[in-house]
This record gives sequence, structure tokens and C-alpha cells, in this order.
Amino acid sequence: MKGCEQGARYLVHGGTRLAGKVRVSGAKNSALKLMAASLLAPSTSVLHNVPDIQDVRTMKEVLEHLGAHVQFGESTMTVHAGAVDSQEAPYELVQKMRASIQIMGPLVARFGRAKVALPGGCNLGPRKIDFHLKGLAQLGATIRQDHGFIEVSAKRLRGDSIFLDYPSVGATENLMMAAVLAEGVTVIENAAREPEIVDLSKFLMSMGAEIEGAGTPTVTIRGVEAMDSAEHTVIGDRIEAGTFLVAGAISGGDVEVEGISPHVLEIFLKKLRAVGAQVQENSKSIRAGGDPATYVGTDIATLPYPGFATDLQAQMMALLSVARGPSIVTENVFESRFVFVDELVRLGAEIKVAGHHAVVNGGRALTGATVRCSDLRAGAALVLAGMAAEGVTEVRDIFHVDRGYERFEEKLTALGASVERVY
Ligand code: EPZ
Repeated sequence: MKGCEQGARYLVHGGTRLAGKVRVSGAKNSALKLMAASLLAPSTSVLHNVPDIQDVRTMKEVLEHLGAHVQFGESTMTVHAGAVDSQEAPYELVQKMRASIQIMGPLVARFGRAKVALPGGCNLGPRKIDFHLKGLAQLGATIRQDHGFIEVSAKRLRGDSIFLDYPSVGATENLMMAAVLAEGVTVIENAAREPEIVDLSKFLMSMGAEIEGAGTPTVTIRGVEAMDSAEHTVIGDRIEAGTFLVAGAISGGDVEVEGISPHVLEIFLKKLRAVGAQVQENSKSIRAGGDPATYVGTDIATLPYPGFATDLQAQMMALLSVARGPSIVTENVFESRFVFVDELVRLGAEIKVAGHHAVVNGGRALTGATVRCSDLRAGAALVLAGMAAEGVTEVRDIFHVDRGYERFEEKLTALGASVERVY
């Protein structure tokens, strides 16, 4: 099926209003790290609400490559990490998914070594791991790089105070997972605050870790002697939720997203309202809709959490393309997350990119065309734009979307969209 998946594409028929309820899956950007964290215990952990997406399947391959036994079905995954007998992640798996590097922390914490292929670049720009490595070195690890591999080794890590140059999500997570078995106390300053970090800390604490401050800029980890397996339910995917809320707004519909708390999308919802969408917040669901003819432009700037999520920038840009008047979109997190703008322009959007700013002159009617995904969020955004375009939009390279959205076209068609997967 791989080959077919590579050639798979979406045909999106514009002009349908989306209405109804959709439940988000478990968060991709939590599940992948929880899977890595299960390596810390020589026994079997159980994860619920795990999304069945390509990146989870890739991470399952990584864990199995290390010797772990992994069962996955009906959104539940069991990871028996007692059988782990290797600490090496090969290039072909790491280049498929950068998040493979999240196994470094757990492996060097439990086994004293990890050997991981350097992740290549991706369509978001160079994806360095210097914050990860500097932090691990501060915990006493020896770092060697040759032949495209990074080898991290330490007899036993020692706690230290680490001040991150930038609140990197992955570096915060890798260092948290490394520090749980280190000798003494580790303090991570300028830590990332994403909800997925809090989810990871809850799982680590249920395994026996002693962590304070996850979700704040200062995370304190007191090393313990050993970790035990645990059971955990992955939080809802806030990025998938935002994607479906834009689908409701851009199609002039009325979509209620269940399984998500509004507080994890605060600034995003503020911006949806600024555009003129109707937004209703309930404790465990959010509703969005409106009339695109009434939408007006607004400015967004992506920032680490709780700022506007970079993973919702593309979806918002699609919405701003149909809102009357100018919007300035500033991408502060990744070097080049505007690759997909040219694809939106092919649909008729009027957007000019200058460095890390994109000026959207919204309001022109979009018309269907053939476009290509550059990453999973851009791919989702192109489907959303296709829903607002007159005629048919063919979205190619949707293997990107399959990496992070579970049953995407199924959920959209259940809401009334016309999105067909063709090979
Ligand atoms: C996580 O990536 C997410 N991925 C990304 O989601 C998300 O966009 C990003 O956090 C920001 O929220 C997963 O959780 C699997 P970072 P991560 O380290 O950890 C630079 C999606 O669509 N940097 O916070 O890689 C880096 O190049 C994906 O689901 C360094 O320079 O993000 C980037 O410019 C896309 N050195 C910035 O920091 C480092 O050592 C943010 O990266 C690490 C990062």
C-alpha cells in the first residue's frame, strides 16, 4: 500500500457548508513522546487515546527496532520496554520522522547510551538539535558525532541547572526524560510550556518521576533510582481541533469539536473571533462557524505556547485569504513555514511574503486548482482552502497529512465536506 499512499491525493469540491460534531483524536505531539518515555521502565506501559497516524506507526517501528514489544489497536498501545536490547535508531527511521530523536533522553537515562542518526532538514527549515545536545552535555553526557550519527553516553547523568536558549518543545521533553533518572536535581529554565509537556510530565510522574513546574518556564526534576511502567490517556489534539474549527468558519458552517478544553487554544480562539467567526466555548468542546462574507483580516504572530501556535499558522492563513482586507502573518518559530503560500496563491489568494512576514490581501474568491502539500499542517490548510474555493481542488502528496491527522477525510465528510481520497 505504501506506493499507493505515496501517490494518494484529495479531490476537494468547494462550496459545501460543514455542520455537526467531531471528536479530536489523541495529540500526535504528546503520543510520540509518551511512547519514547515508556522506554524508561523495564516493563509494560499502556497508552490510551493514541491516534492511528503514520508518525505513531513510525515511532512504533523505532521502539520495535530497539527491541521493545509494541501492540497497537483500537487507540490503545502497550509498550513492553523490558525487552529493549539496542540503543540505536537508524537513519531511515529518523529521516522519516524527526521526533525519533526524542528517544535519546530515555535511552541515555536508562542504558547510559543512545546512538541516533542526525535528523535531516525538512520543509520547515533546518531542524537543529543543538539545544538537546547542550543540555545533555550539561547533565554529564559525552556527545560524539560522526558518520551522520550522534552518540550520547554517560555512566550516570548528574542533575544540573539548564537555561535553554529558546523554549524548545523537543529539547524540554528530551531533557525532562533524561533527568528523571539522573543523580540529584535538574532545573530547566526557559522551558517550553505546551500542554503536551504537561501531559508528558503526568505520565513520567505516574512512572515514579518527581517533577514540578511542567507547563511553566521552570521545570524541576528530582532524579529517582528507577522508573516503573504506568497507564495513561493521551490529551486531545489541540492542533487537530483548531484545524476543524477553521473548517467550520471557512465553509460558513457550524462545527462543534469535542474532546478539547478551550484554554489550550485561547489566543487562537481570540483570533478566530477577531476575523468575525462565531465561537462558543464549553468545558470540553468548542463550536465555530459564521459567514465568510462578514470576515475581516487580522494579524497573527506565531510564538511558543501560550502564543499563537505555529502549527495553526497555515490553517489561519487559509481563513485570512477569504477574509476582506489586509492581514499580516508573522512566523517566529520556524525558518520557512511559508513554503505553502505559493500553493494558496494558485487557488487565487493574494499573499506576498517578505522574510518571516506574509501580507495577505484577503477577500478575493478562491477557485479550485491542483496544489501540493509541503508539510502536514500546510496540507490540511490546502484542504480547508479547497472547501472555500469554487470548483474542484486536487491536493497532492497527502502522505504529509496522513502523518498527523487520523481519518481526516472521513471526519470532514461526516461534517458534510466533499473530500475524496483518490490514487
Ligand atoms: C515540536 O517540534 C512539534 N513536533 C512541532 O509540530 C511544533 O511545530 C513545534 O514543537 C513548535 O511548537 C512534535 O512535537 C513532534 P522546537 P520541535 O524544538 O520540538 C529550533 C507538527 O506540525 N531548534 O520547539 O522540533 C527549531 O529549528 C510539528 O505537528 C533549534 O534551533 O520544535 C525551530 O526553529 C511541526 N535547536 C524552533 O527551535 C534545537 O535544538 C522550535 O523548535 C531545537 C529546536
